[in-house]
Amino acid sequence: NTSVDEDCDYLFKTVLIGDSAVVKSNLFSRFAKDEFYLDSKPTIGVEFAYRNTKVGDKIVKAQVWDTAGQERFRGITSSYYRGALGAMLVFDITRRGTFENLKKWLHELREFGNHDMVIVLVGSKSDLMDLRKVEVEDGQKLAQLENLCFMETSAKDSLNVEDAFLQMITKIY
Ligand code: GTP
Ligand code: MG
Repeated sequence: NTSVDEDCDYLFKTVLIGDSAVVKSNLFSRFAKDEFYLDSKPTIGVEFAYRNTKVGDKIVKAQVWDTAGQERFRGITSSYYRGALGAMLVFDITRRGTFENLKKWLHELREFGNHDMVIVLVGSKSDLMDLRKVEVEDGQKLAQLENLCFMETSAKDSLNVEDAFLQMITKIY
């Protein structure tokens, strides 16, 4: 769906960022199409999708940019952030390194992003509790320190995905 203006009251650009394989694309496909791919491939460059949601009595169209986590597939970073009102910063609760790297992503966000951008910190793969390497409290603490919203999600079990996007969209609105 590429018709952006006739059928909505507001259009918000949002961007998904974080290390490779932290589930950006599966959060994206869950939200945009309610689809899940266990064998998804790394994103090359960037993909887009639109979805309408209702906030109060208004229709908000969210344009979501699903970016590549792998350095070699990342394009012109500044274009990802240009005009973006919201960002979903994703880490994998089963890989500590993806949490440690959040500092780097936050730095990039602050360098290229809007100063008042709404940032939602998302811990992914909450279905893999037994493999957890990042405690809920770690995410909460960082969120508090950096003034972000925080949620743990599972694209696989369709848990909190909708909520995370709606929280971001509602906060922008
Ligand atoms: P890049 O495009 O390389 O930046 O990666 P990405 O962040 O888009 O990751 P992607 O969504 O492609 O997911 C990577 C892999 O994680 C998938 O191939 C799935 O096997 C797995 N995965 C995705 N979502 C979930 C989930 O909710 N739970 C579990 N356990 N695994 C998941
Ligand atoms: Mg991807």
